[in-house]
Amino acid sequence: MSGTRAAPAGSVDASAFAVFDHLTTLVALVDGGGRCLHVNAALEAALGLPRRSLVGEDIRHWFVDAAALHELFTRVANGELASSRLLVRLHAPVGSASAGTTAGERSVQLSASAFDAASGVVLIEMSPLGLQLRDERERRVQELAQANGELLRNLAHEVRNPLGGIRGAAQLLLMEPLAPALAECAQLIVREADRLHALVDRLLATHRGTLQVSDVNLHEVCEHVRALVVAEFGPALVVERDYDTSIPEFRGDRGQLVQAVLNVVRNAAQALAAGATPQPCVVLRTRVRRQVTLRGRRHRLALALQVQDNGPGVPETMRERIFHPLASGREGGTGLGLTLAHAILQRHQGTIECDGAPGCTVFTLTIPLT
Ligand SMILES: Nc1ncnc2c1ncn2[C@@H]1O[C@H](COP(=O)(O)OP(=O)(O)O)[C@@H](O)[C@H]1O
Ligand SMILES: [Mg+2]
Repeated sequence: MSGTRAAPAGSVDASAFAVFDHLTTLVALVDGGGRCLHVNAALEAALGLPRRSLVGEDIRHWFVDAAALHELFTRVANGELASSRLLVRLHAPVGSASAGTTAGERSVQLSASAFDAASGVVLIEMSPLGLQLRDERERRVQELAQANGELLRNLAHEVRNPLGGIRGAAQLLLMEPLAPALAECAQLIVREADRLHALVDRLLATHRGTLQVSDVNLHEVCEHVRALVVAEFGPALVVERDYDTSIPEFRGDRGQLVQAVLNVVRNAAQALAAGATPQPCVVLRTRVRRQVTLRGRRHRLALALQVQDNGPGVPETMRERIFHPLASGREGGTGLGLTLAHAILQRHQGTIECDGAPGCTVFTLTIPLT
C-alpha cells in the first residue's frame, strides 16, 4: 500500500481496500485501541455479521482469548513490534465449529503488523488452522503414497519370482517319501509361499493405476457393498442408509469404487465385530457438497459418502498411520485396505478422510463432479 492510502486513526476509505475482499484469509484493520476500522468479506462471512455492524467494534470481543490480544495490539501499534503471530480462538457463527474446538469457536493463526506507523493502524490477518492442517496432512499422505507405491511395486516384483521357485521346490520334495516331520515342513513352506503370493498380488493390485470409466451410480455402489457386508457379517450388524437421492451419476471406475467403499465398510464392520458394542450399526450417508477444495483444487460440486460406525474408534497409535501401506491395528490385518481405498480415490481426483471419536467414527470419501 502506498503512503497516500494510509488511513488516519478512526476511519478508512473502504474502497481503497476492496482488493482484500478477494483474499481467503480473514483481514481486519484496527486502531491501537483495538477498534475495528475495516474488515474484508472473508472475515464478515467467518463472523456471520455484516461489515457495518463490525466496524467500530472492539475486535477483542470477537476472540475467546482477548487478554493476549490486547497486549499484542498495543505493542504493534506503539511500534515496539513490527509484526507478531499468535494462535487464537475466534468466536464463529454457531454450528460452524471445526473439529477440535467447542461449538461456536474456531482456531486461527493470527498475524498482526504495523500498517501505518504514524496513525498506529494495525493490519490483522487470520487463517483457519483446521484447513491448513487438513491440507498439510493430505499433502503428506499423498507424497508418502506415491513414494511407497513405487517402493512396494518394485519390492513385490522382486519377491514374486523367487517365491514361485521356493513353492515349486517344496512341492517336488513332497513327491518324495519323507519322514512325517519333514513332510510337515515342506507343506508349511507351500502354505506360507501361497500366503505371501496372495499378499504380493494385493500389493501390486493396490498400485495398478488405470481406470475403466463408465457412468457410476453411487447408491448402486453402496447397495452392492451393503449386500456383501451383510452377507459376510450376518444380521447382527445393522447397516442403515441415509441417501440424498438427488445425487447425479458421475464418470468413474465402478469396480474400483466398490473395492474402496467395501474396504472402508468392512473395517467398520470388523471394528464392531471385535468390540463389545451393544448395538453395532454402520450408517452409509451420501450428500452433495458445493464449493469444496480437494487436494488444492476448488470444485463447484462434489459427492460425499460418509461411512459412520459406533465402534471403539481408530486406536490412538494408528491415527496418523491408517492410510500407510502395511499399517494394521488388527490381528490378521494386512494394512492394505485403506491404502488401496486412498489410491482409488486419488485416481478419481477425490479424497478420503477419517474423523471422529469412540462411538462415532466417520470416514468421508469425496469425489469431485465439476
Ligand atoms: N472404522 C474403524 N474403526 C476402528 N479402527 C479402524 C476403522 N477403520 C480402520 N481402522 C484401523 O485402521 C487400520 C488399517 O485399516 P486397513 O488399511 O483396512 O488395514 P487392515 O484392515 O488390514 O488392518 C485397521 O487395522 C484399524 O486399526
Ligand atoms: Mg481393512
